[in-house]
Amino acid sequence: MVTQLPLDGVPLVKSGPTGVTIRPVRDADVEALRQIERSAAQAFRLIEAFSWLAVGEVQSAEVHHALLAAGTNWVAVDDGDHPLGFLSAEISGRDLHICEISVDHLHQGFGIGRKLIAYAIDSATRQGLEAVTLTTFRTIPWNCPFYERLGFRMLEEEALSPRLRDLLDLEDAHGLRRDTRCAMRLDITTP
Ligand SMILES: CC(C)(COP(=O)(O)OP(=O)(O)OC[C@H]1O[C@@H](n2cnc3c(N)ncnc32)[C@H](O)[C@@H]1OP(=O)(O)O)[C@@H](O)C(=O)NCCC(=O)NCCS
Repeated sequence: MVTQLPLDGVPLVKSGPTGVTIRPVRDADVEALRQIERSAAQAFRLIEAFSWLAVGEVQSAEVHHALLAAGTNWVAVDDGDHPLGFLSAEISGRDLHICEISVDHLHQGFGIGRKLIAYAIDSATRQGLEAVTLTTFRTIPWNCPFYERLGFRMLEEEALSPRLRDLLDLEDAHGLRRDTRCAMRLDITTP
């Protein structure tokens, strides 16, 4: 719950959605998820240097379908089963790699992103994987600093696996400048 500035002496209280749960993505969800990614990207308008991302390409329907078939595409829904956010990942070697995470702009800041990442980490743990990885922007507050608070660490150049180095290079070739990006890793520790 977020309390905003009082208006006419009456505090405005913005409540998050109720009964948020995570479930596997279904084929019928895919177009809603592509719409959520477009909505989520509106957050980048807050930072002038990155505002161009607000109108960027979103993950294709084909990739969504492939990842849901692989069992690594998850959606956060409200108590009416309406999609609010999603996390798409793929298994690469011994890692679960997060390809995309987006939460509808109006529902950001209520812990849904944190919940989706916890779910992905839990899934990777149950599958006996070694790590969860991702690439992201270094300085955007809801990117690298957010993931660091969740236990991910930024990988220095020399610590990059060939897969993550190639991915950063590929992103650079698509306009996501290498010096603004980083790869991150969370090691799974099993008791
Ligand atoms: C990243 C994203 C999925 C997080 O989802 P969410 O539901 O908002 O996540 P949460 O509410 O669990 O947490 C958001 C965190 O970002 C922080 N944050 C969000 N907006 C912020 C801002 N403008 N300034 C500073 N911090 C901000 C919050 O403080 C919170 O951190 P905390 O939980 O440690 O306090 C969502 O912000 C999003 O869709 N962003 C646009 C797309 C994007 O950046 N995707 C990730 C690409 S790697």
